[in-house]
Amino acid sequence: MAKQDPRSHRIVITGATDGIGLLLARSYAARGHRIMATGRRPEVDRTELYGKLPIYYICADQSDPARTARSLSEATDRFGWQKIDLAILNAGVGWKGAAEDENFASIDHQIDVNLAGTIAATHALAPALLAGKGRLALIGSSLAEGGVDFATYAATKGALSGLAKSLQEEWHDRAGVTMIHPGPTQTDMHAKAGMQLGAVRKFFMRADRAAAAIERAVRRGEDEREIGRFYAMRAKWQKPGEGQL
Ligand SMILES: NC(=O)c1ccc[n+]([C@@H]2O[C@H](COP(=O)([O-])OP(=O)(O)OC[C@H]3O[C@@H](n4cnc5c(N)ncnc54)[C@H](OP(=O)(O)O)[C@@H]3O)[C@@H](O)[C@H]2O)c1
Repeated sequence: MAKQDPRSHRIVITGATDGIGLLLARSYAARGHRIMATGRRPEVDRTELYGKLPIYYICADQSDPARTARSLSEATDRFGWQKIDLAILNAGVGWKGAAEDENFASIDHQIDVNLAGTIAATHALAPALLAGKGRLALIGSSLAEGGVDFATYAATKGALSGLAKSLQEEWHDRAGVTMIHPGPTQTDMHAKAGMQLGAVRKFFMRADRAAAAIERAVRRGEDEREIGRFYAMRAKWQKPGEGQL
């Protein structure tokens, strides 16, 4: 059997069938790392999504958090991954509209996929992450601080910051934790949420740039990183004293 390259890391990426997660999976795999890619789809066309790259897909639908945890635990056992170097918990969904118009199915779905599913995945992967002195990266959003028409989505992303801060303390000498907040990014996430962006989309960050910035923050072992031009623009618009309590 060929000897494993010691620089080849074991990486789990959730929501790796589209957008930022798919780009991250391809980028890491192209550099020789082994990727466990997850998503909600029962099956995927592996060749179409990943070509010949060392990316192995498992279905872990985060709308059922407990099942997601089981699927991830079973998969790490099956793969013989007692140690994991990096887990990027990226799967997410959104809904846009006035808070009072949102129905409970949509509220539940976002809480399950974005928050409970991510916490469940963290629990399932924690033993292998800690054994490998690895790094957990959570993908939040610039909306984590709140945003008009995104109340539930913002709440789920804000809560991930609490998860990251807690684990940074609990795991401080055992594993790293990076909280990443991308600004608006050119993916199909908005269309999936029923939003028609129109011309505004061209002002969003390119998805490959978002993926590269996430990789950089992880490589540098940063605790927290905001990415995209949204933050620079917001700082420019903000008048002195505005938004400060
Ligand atoms: N795009 C933005 O403007 C933006 C801004 C800030 C933060 N973010 C965050 O960045 C992350 C990636 O988003 P993206 O823009 O790349 O969106 P995307 O292209 O829609 O990708 C999201 C990924 O999550 C998967 N997913 C959806 N529901 C799932 C479920 N129930 N269980 C497991 N996986 C599920 C999707 O699967 P399918 O391929 O089957 O849909 C896809 O692989 C998300 O956490 C998002 O909140 C995005």
